[in-house]
Amino acid sequence: MIIKSSEFVVSNSDVAKCPNSKLPEYAFIGRSNVGKSSLINMLTARKSLAKTSGRPGKTQLINHFLINKEWHLVDLPGYGYARVSKSIKKTFQKFITQYFEHREQMLCAFVLIDSRHNPQPIDLEFMQWLGEHGIPFCIIFTKADKLKPNALTRNIEVYKEKMLEIWVEMPVYFVTSSTNDLGREEVLKYIENLNNQFISN
Ligand code: GTP
Ligand code: MG
Repeated sequence: MIIKSSEFVVSNSDVAKCPNSKLPEYAFIGRSNVGKSSLINMLTARKSLAKTSGRPGKTQLINHFLINKEWHLVDLPGYGYARVSKSIKKTFQKFITQYFEHREQMLCAFVLIDSRHNPQPIDLEFMQWLGEHGIPFCIIFTKADKLKPNALTRNIEVYKEKMLEIWVEMPVYFVTSSTNDLGREEVLKYIENLNNQFISN
């Protein structure tokens, strides 16, 4: 897919105030600092469409971006940052869970996982929560440039094995780097296919 235009639409903390349109949309979710905002910039080829930072907790609201005037990309705050509660409900900011529960045009959540780390309970729990709520998702392993190819392959294998302890099959997944555009075409192609299915339904 060719990105012809990308524009910021609105930020808010209330799903009821998200854009009142039926355009298909895709949300980027994951731990703070995993690279959600950077990936949005990489996909749209815009240096600072979404605000990024080396310090966790940069994105604090639900941010909608309109792409090609046809679909939305949604940048969400990270989970697992400065949250002390053990309760999963409190761990994921309430408005994030409300967003996923109510936003029917959200066709796929991209759950970002830092490719350098072992499977983390908070990510596994979040994907389980998505599954229990019937919310479609894919995995994106980020920051692939920070690993040597062998280590990257090994970490993804470890992740697959962990997922297969819980899931019948490994969800669709992508490997990306926001510094060298790895995975860009694949993710955009996936979105394009879902957009086309959405239009023909
Ligand atoms: P929050 O908004 O705080 O939840 O973080 P986020 O998930 O949006 O992360 P963000 O995109 O702000 O990136 C966090 C840090 O990781 C920044 O310093 C980025 O430059 C860096 N980063 C993100 N993606 C990549 C990547 O693919 N490769 C490398 N080397 N660094 C990355
Ligand atoms: Mg962010």
